[in-house]
Amino acid sequence: MAETALVTGAAGFIGRWVTKELLDRGYRVHGYDDFSGGSRENVAAFADDPDFTIVEGDIRDADRVAAQFDDVDICLHLAAEIDVHESLNDPGSHFETNVVGTQHVLEACRQTDTRLTLVGTCMVYDVADADGGIDEGHPVDPASPYAGTKLAGEDIAMSYYHGYDLPVTVLRPFNTYGPFQKASNAGGVVSIFTKRDLAGETLKIYGDGTQTRDLMYATDCARFIVEASTSDDAVGEVINAGTGEDVSINKLAELIATGDTGIEHVEHHHPQSEIDRLRCDPTKAHELLGWEPTVSLEEGVDRLRTWMCEKEI
Ligand SMILES: NC(=O)c1ccc[n+]([C@@H]2O[C@H](COP(=O)([O-])OP(=O)(O)OC[C@H]3O[C@@H](n4cnc5c(N)ncnc54)[C@H](O)[C@@H]3O)[C@@H](O)[C@H]2O)c1
Repeated sequence: MAETALVTGAAGFIGRWVTKELLDRGYRVHGYDDFSGGSRENVAAFADDPDFTIVEGDIRDADRVAAQFDDVDICLHLAAEIDVHESLNDPGSHFETNVVGTQHVLEACRQTDTRLTLVGTCMVYDVADADGGIDEGHPVDPASPYAGTKLAGEDIAMSYYHGYDLPVTVLRPFNTYGPFQKASNAGGVVSIFTKRDLAGETLKIYGDGTQTRDLMYATDCARFIVEASTSDDAVGEVINAGTGEDVSINKLAELIATGDTGIEHVEHHHPQSEIDRLRCDPTKAHELLGWEPTVSLEEGVDRLRTWMCEKEI
């Protein structure tokens, strides 16, 4: 009998790629999502797969979360509110989903002795030094309620590992991009720039554009999450993933802009929540899991552009 993975946030951008990776590896996948940030469209490709089911539900509803845990072997927890700017405007909502909701998932795992992977974020880290990458020992310094609530969720998860011996793995992927990511303000910078370029609209850079990001393609991220969720060596660990290279938002805009597309700098709404430099040191993921990213930024942007053209996004 194939193993069953419960994926919270399965209808979201990364969740649908994780779902695909698990199905490709022979898992049965049960998705749980309230479709507040994701969509049925994101998982339409799996609708006819007998190994895939998805239920609409909120992780803030403890009973409904618990009801998803029949016959589940591993839980990959991705459901979250993810908008840094929105979290500054409405921190309570991020707290309810990212902290209280995560605790509901953890409690259901504890009751059923189910292994849990908590997908955290690189946004919990303090800014990197000029040369080095950020490894898992780097200081954390959450600069927004989004980052703060994600870090709180991590801490609670690790407390279940230490306190109840629950098999928990905490992952901190760096900024991820690719098809199915939202291209609205709440989306990722690569999707937003690519969509604007295709529409012939000016690319708008918040602030001076010298801030950098380590941009990882969606399939590399999904492979990392699934590898870590199925490796015994990853239990009790916090693991980063990224390319090990960072690119400034100015350089990224130049890479994406084609033809006459203009680039302009606009005032940052929340400069205090910006992290100036984010570059991953992915050594631990490589040593522990044998994981390495395979898609270059140029190739990833090309794939995203092709997908957006096909979908007429
Ligand atoms: N996108 C990135 O660059 C990135 C990087 C590192 C970590 N992450 C983490 O990966 C995870 C997925 O992020 P994403 O970019 O795919 O975002 P996303 O918004 O596309 O996916 C999140 C999913 O969670 C669902 N959700 C939100 N609140 C919910 C609730 N209360 N109950 C049930 N479902 C709910 C949404 O409907 C959505 O489908 C998040 O935990 C995020 O913190 C993302």
